[in-house]
Amino acid sequence: MLIHFDYQNFLHSQKIRSGISKDLIDQSDLQIKSIHQEIMTERKQGKLGFYDLPDQDISHITTYLDKIKTKFDTMVVLGIGGSALGNKAIYSALKVEKQLPRKVIVADNVDPLMLKEILDVVDLNRTLFNVITKSGTTAETMSVFLILMKILKDTFPQAYKEHLVITTDKDKGFLRDIVRKEGYQDFEVPGNVGGRFSVLSDVGLVSCAFAGIDISGLLKGAADMRVICESKNIWKNPAYFNGFLHYQYMRNGKNISVMMPYANALYDMADWYRQLWAESLGKKYDKQGREVFVGQTPVKALGTTDQHSQVQLYTEGPNDKVFTFLTVSKFGYDYEIPDLYPDREEVHYLGGKKLSLLLNTERLATEIALTDAGRPNANITFDKLDEKSIGAFIFMFEVQTVFTGKLLQIDPLDQPGVEAGKIATYAMMGKPGFDKERATINDYLKTRELRIKN
Ligand code: PA5
Repeated sequence: MLIHFDYQNFLHSQKIRSGISKDLIDQSDLQIKSIHQEIMTERKQGKLGFYDLPDQDISHITTYLDKIKTKFDTMVVLGIGGSALGNKAIYSALKVEKQLPRKVIVADNVDPLMLKEILDVVDLNRTLFNVITKSGTTAETMSVFLILMKILKDTFPQAYKEHLVITTDKDKGFLRDIVRKEGYQDFEVPGNVGGRFSVLSDVGLVSCAFAGIDISGLLKGAADMRVICESKNIWKNPAYFNGFLHYQYMRNGKNISVMMPYANALYDMADWYRQLWAESLGKKYDKQGREVFVGQTPVKALGTTDQHSQVQLYTEGPNDKVFTFLTVSKFGYDYEIPDLYPDREEVHYLGGKKLSLLLNTERLATEIALTDAGRPNANITFDKLDEKSIGAFIFMFEVQTVFTGKLLQIDPLDQPGVEAGKIATYAMMGKPGFDKERATINDYLKTRELRIKN
């Protein structure tokens, strides 16, 4: 396998007194098998579409890109949440390691300075914009899309369509209408795959393939992990195992889950995980409609950088967190630290060592420090950063998230809390059909008088 999951410090031991006992895991066998059955049934019913993505035909992507890739050197993705984070995560993971020939920039905010910064650096002649939104209506994505559409029409009155691809629902939404009426190159977000589970669909694959990533390798890694995650034996299924342990930790009050890559390339992957874990599991109601207020706050930290920022808190602060390190065994490029001052013991010990050795030694040192402090921690090692290992990692965490949602008895696929914010934005920005919400918000605004005045 291309990733290795070392969970020893998640289990109860002399040092990790709050660790989960092997007995508890074994005693939960029936519950785990019943959830496994439920997942397999929902999968057959087509409710968990992400399971099928590794088998998809990708020829429509490669055919399109073969036609256009010499014309463009940059793709700007316009999207947000599940329509952006996966693109960023995979591109960041592989861009330096694989020396990718083309650039992907993700514009996932409505910050005017962010947009200016992007437009200042790209050469419009060589830039392809990929608007991604499943619903085809999200205000953030739509507003940036409208701004860009105007810029493209003004710059290339005859050829603006060639600079745009649209990735949206197959049948519904404003953007699908626009594709039908105006005729743009389009890609589809499968109906049964939710935003944050969609990175291995056209949503993520188009930008990856554009950049020069081998998308069949990503899918192969996911398919290999799918076989492993089909085991109902929790000791052989890393997704179920990690999900079960996180669930038990939540029950024991460890409501924060820190993902700490020791590789800048994987920092955006921790961001992708944050959304998946937060939006899927943070829920007010369970499936029976009872108030439960569950979820675990995902946090990202970067090794070694955050050793000088967060680790003090992690080792000595509240014991309310679980930690997952991400480690890369072999980097495609490395530096040897030169022995420039052999007579100075302060730096001589570093001389002749590889920079990656220092990085991975510091990772182990943090593991030792956390373990000595009784803080549960696990480590996922990538032999190297490549398409297969990234695909495997993504698929494992998707299965883990659904499995954990089932343990919590909530729906991991919905996001009513996000919808509430979207509705309030529509109401305040004057979208028709939101009069009632607008009136309620206006009442609230009248009560907002607590301000600090100079
Ligand atoms: O996971 C989700 O469903 C959300 O994070 C969405 O991806 C996000 O809200 C963007 O939605 P859309 O793709 O419809 O623009």
